[in-house]
Amino acid sequence: MKKRVLMLYYSQSGQQLSILQSLAAPLVAAGHDVKFEVIQPLEKYPFPWSAYTFFNAFPETFQQKPLDLKPLTPAAFEPYDLIVLGYQPWFLSPSRPIGSFLQSDEGKRILSNKNVVTILGCRNMWLGAQEKVKRRLIDAKAHLRGHIALVDRSGNLISLITILRWLLTGKKGAFLFFPPAGVSEADIREAGKFGVTITQALERNEYSNLQNDLLRQGAIEVKPSLVLLEKRGQKGFSVWSRFIASGGSLHSTGRKIRVYTFLWVLLPAIFVLSPLLWTLSKIMLMTNRRQLSDEVSYYRQTSLR
Ligand SMILES: Cc1cc2nc3c(=O)[nH]c(=O)nc-3n(C[C@H](O)[C@H](O)[C@H](O)COP(=O)(O)O)c2cc1C
Repeated sequence: MKKRVLMLYYSQSGQQLSILQSLAAPLVAAGHDVKFEVIQPLEKYPFPWSAYTFFNAFPETFQQKPLDLKPLTPAAFEPYDLIVLGYQPWFLSPSRPIGSFLQSDEGKRILSNKNVVTILGCRNMWLGAQEKVKRRLIDAKAHLRGHIALVDRSGNLISLITILRWLLTGKKGAFLFFPPAGVSEADIREAGKFGVTITQALERNEYSNLQNDLLRQGAIEVKPSLVLLEKRGQKGFSVWSRFIASGGSLHSTGRKIRVYTFLWVLLPAIFVLSPLLWTLSKIMLMTNRRQLSDEVSYYRQTSLR
């Protein structure tokens, strides 16, 4: 029987849309009715970003303050058998348009009682963002059935440089000895394999094995060192976001000083912490393997602790 699927997404560069199109191809090929609906803020974010606008977006994004969204089309409110939410983390949280959608009355109405699969495309730090999305989905009474995380497979520091170049200049391609920024073309193309698995679950209306099936196909890889880095990041960002937000209105001098201080502390901190925590994760895997392995397993599944 023909099923109805809603692909909800936000994307600045088009990366997230390409991922969803790839994922949707097998569903369309199987004859199901697939609709795409874009979530857009009323006031568009710039792309490429200026360094200041980029870091100035941090406090409200991390604190998940909702912003006004453009109205959705009537098609978004029709009944669906499955909703796929394609999003991207911003500052270890769901991007602000997506976070706003999840908190909106319209979003909750659309998601209520629906089977949901989340798929994200990011640099490599998505664990905390997905925890926040899980919480919002529970609040909306939605059922998270599967999760797929597509990441930049380059090293943590390499991808930090290439993504900042991409987001701040719009240049995505390889340069010097650096690879192209973002999720690789091959990974985007191959997202269709997850679409095949989702189609089978949808047709059987049986989702209990979906996440395990997706994992077997490589839907999620969690690096122990990034578990540690995210934990530090969430704690640090909580303090910094409050410090910057209390610096004054969005364009005040007080806030500007705090945003620039954050920028000049954050980037060196990542460069120092990244190799340190990588080493620590190797030590922990020898001395306390159980605890870190449990954490890794936790982030590969869909329930919220
Ligand atoms: C403001 C901002 C903050 C971001 N923060 C993160 C982050 O915390 N972790 C991460 O892995 N990627 C981060 N990214 C990368 C995005 O998740 C995403 O991969 C990239 O912006 C491309 O998405 P698009 O489909 O909207 O173009 C950030 C991007 C932006 C614009």
